Amino acid sequence: MFDTIIRNANLPDGRKGIDIGITAGKIAAVEATLPTEAGEVIDATGRLLSPTFCDPHFHMDATLSLGLPRMNVSGTLLEGIALWGELRPTLTKEALVERALRYCDLAVSQGLLHIRSHVDTSDPRLVTAEALLEVRDLVKDYIDLQLVAFPQDGYYRAADGAKSLERALDMGVEIVGGIPHFERTMEDGRRSLEALCRIAADRGLMVDIHCDETDDPMSRHVETLAAETVRHGLQGRVNGSHLTSMHSMDNYYVSKLIPLMAEAGMNATPNPLINIMLQGRHDTFPKRRGLTRVRELMAAGINVSLGQDCTMDPWYSMGSADMIEVAHMAVHVAQMGSVAEKGQIFDAITVNSARTMGLEGYGLAVGCKANLVILQAADVTEAIRLKPVRLYVLRDGRVISRTAPRLAQLSLTGRPGQIDPGLDYLPPA
Ligand code: FE2
Repeated sequence: MFDTIIRNANLPDGRKGIDIGITAGKIAAVEATLPTEAGEVIDATGRLLSPTFCDPHFHMDATLSLGLPRMNVSGTLLEGIALWGELRPTLTKEALVERALRYCDLAVSQGLLHIRSHVDTSDPRLVTAEALLEVRDLVKDYIDLQLVAFPQDGYYRAADGAKSLERALDMGVEIVGGIPHFERTMEDGRRSLEALCRIAADRGLMVDIHCDETDDPMSRHVETLAAETVRHGLQGRVNGSHLTSMHSMDNYYVSKLIPLMAEAGMNATPNPLINIMLQGRHDTFPKRRGLTRVRELMAAGINVSLGQDCTMDPWYSMGSADMIEVAHMAVHVAQMGSVAEKGQIFDAITVNSARTMGLEGYGLAVGCKANLVILQAADVTEAIRLKPVRLYVLRDGRVISRTAPRLAQLSLTGRPGQIDPGLDYLPPA
């Protein structure tokens, strides 16, 4: 007997009408039909069941601070950084915790239960780290929250950048971050990556770098990160976030760079919503998209995950903790619209991101943790098209969020009374 059976679910790999048996918080069976009884039965009614979503790149210390202390008028990355610099000295631990917890509630409702957040370590008070370490503990029963020590104002460029980053790691922040393109010179950026990878190797930590979030085709921090990864034996433990310079680089150079990244086992995490919003700001027309080369990185066997980066903060006034919204943007900007490519993009917000984050027990195989979301859509393609309601969200086999399906009640003579956008508008099989 299972604790719970989810009946008649469609899976991201295309299997349809599958039953999932859950025992002691783990997936115990994945079969066409499970005959046995269960404590609880959830009828998925032929809708998509996915492992819960992962966001491997977020800023939880800044989220929901939109309008504090004022709005970003130009909408640029640099005004965002300046605005954050105005807000930062006024931050209190209580306010940070309150905002982060409100965000986590929203994330749960969206089936987003695995989040890697950067924590700005530029203010030597480190109130950001203190607050998010507390939040990590408060939400641990329902969200895996990883924290990255992120020297927003530069590891070398800010007066106490290096010292504060190490102090945050001492406090329990578990990943080493960096921002080489924001250092004063290309050489300082290179040296920062050398230092940060050494810190990670010495402490046995992972690395996650805001790497070349710029339109500069000559920026070379991605190759440095790949080289330092190999030099310090960090293969598989390093994530290059953004990588937008690669959009603008010379094609011949990229043909050398991508194999170096693959050799280093680097993960790549573009942030499509933010990249399309912030990059190309110095262009007139034609205007660059700024998203890194998602399809080409995937084709080279590099693990590509997608991040959200921001929700309602100095850099981005939108966002809703919805990783499908991120996937939807990626499909458009990377021009990956075939059924197979949409599947690859869906992987980028689920299994690939779990790999970037080093999550254990993630997935839909027997023995995996029963962290699951049922969507009001029939399959992956329809989920990306519809950004559908998350009907059920389960953590360790327990339902922690339910949302009523979106059903429109029509009053039109001769037309159906009710339509379900998730099931009534499927393309021909
Ligand atoms: Fe970021």
